[in-house]
Amino acid sequence: MKNVAVIGGDGIGKEVVAEGVKVLRAVAELRGIELKLHEYDLCADRYLKDGVTYPDDVRAFIKDECDAVLLGALGDPRVPDMTHARDILFGLRFGLDLYCNIRPITCMHERLMPLKGVKAEDVDIVVFRENTEGIYVGMGGHFKKGTPDEVAIQEDVNTRKGVERVIRAAFEFAKSSGRTKVHMADKHNAMKHAHELWIRTFREVAEEYPDIEAHHVFVDALCLYLIQDPTQFEVIVSCNLFGDIITDLGAALQGGMGMASSANVNPGKVSMFEPVHGSAPPLTGKDVANPLATVLSVGQLLAHLGFPEEEQRLIGLVREAVATGNCTTEVGGRLGTRATGDYIVSRVLS
Ligand code: IPM
Ligand code: MN
Repeated sequence: MKNVAVIGGDGIGKEVVAEGVKVLRAVAELRGIELKLHEYDLCADRYLKDGVTYPDDVRAFIKDECDAVLLGALGDPRVPDMTHARDILFGLRFGLDLYCNIRPITCMHERLMPLKGVKAEDVDIVVFRENTEGIYVGMGGHFKKGTPDEVAIQEDVNTRKGVERVIRAAFEFAKSSGRTKVHMADKHNAMKHAHELWIRTFREVAEEYPDIEAHHVFVDALCLYLIQDPTQFEVIVSCNLFGDIITDLGAALQGGMGMASSANVNPGKVSMFEPVHGSAPPLTGKDVANPLATVLSVGQLLAHLGFPEEEQRLIGLVREAVATGNCTTEVGGRLGTRATGDYIVSRVLS
């Protein structure tokens, strides 16, 4: 029996997760996968109602009993400091030590390719974003807040262990998936302490993988190259903040945020799966949000549970949905959120 926690979250997060759950249930039913879903009402509404963000009993249940978590998105204009979003999202990422944020950049159809002269099929990149350290750890503080002499400090934490394990995971993935090269994006020309650790560790780990080409690229240059010629990249590994930025840029190469999926993984342990996009308050309640990023994240979840062929099948069905216009309008389709989910379910079962 596999236990999966489901947290829709805020805004369109709830809407796309509802579709992801339909698809997950359909696959499980068809393949006889014993699955128990545990849905949690953790979101801005809940926080505003009773102050609950990510309670200890849920935290413990997920950690001790679950195999995976499906998350929608968090963020609500009524909670401007993002307290609940940080508690829940970072509670999962840091609390479960999900050190690899694996974000594929795959362009599924010519129509979604914004670059002239680049073939959709040639854009097939996987980004490994470090997910437990860096500028995201929340260390720092204010001094003389609200005065003209105000100081704000945000520490960038990089450990040898944290840097090495995500770089190694990127090389291992390249090796096991038959890819030939790994690019590491940093900024060691400016960040001479933190990113000197990154480049040194990268060079050391690369020596263990003589069959994989190891390339260093400064992150600013990477942004240029990703637009000039994304086809030269296969696997990219970077720190938490740069990985966040690179993958939004990458989403533009695959049809926008509605197509970008992610797996927050600690290999072999309970891991979390979420679309890369946010809660999109202006789109909420209109049945227009694209659920395909969530469907692809459900695919990653199924692979994590031990069913990689089900992920491949879902990727194929998402490609087909886009190709036939059975998708939302922002990716050139004619359906709403729910009908897109229904389409995928019908194809799963056919
Ligand atoms: C993401 C998001 C989050 C991040 C935000 C909501 C804190 O942008 O998952 O990419 O920066 O990690
Ligand atoms: Mn982001």
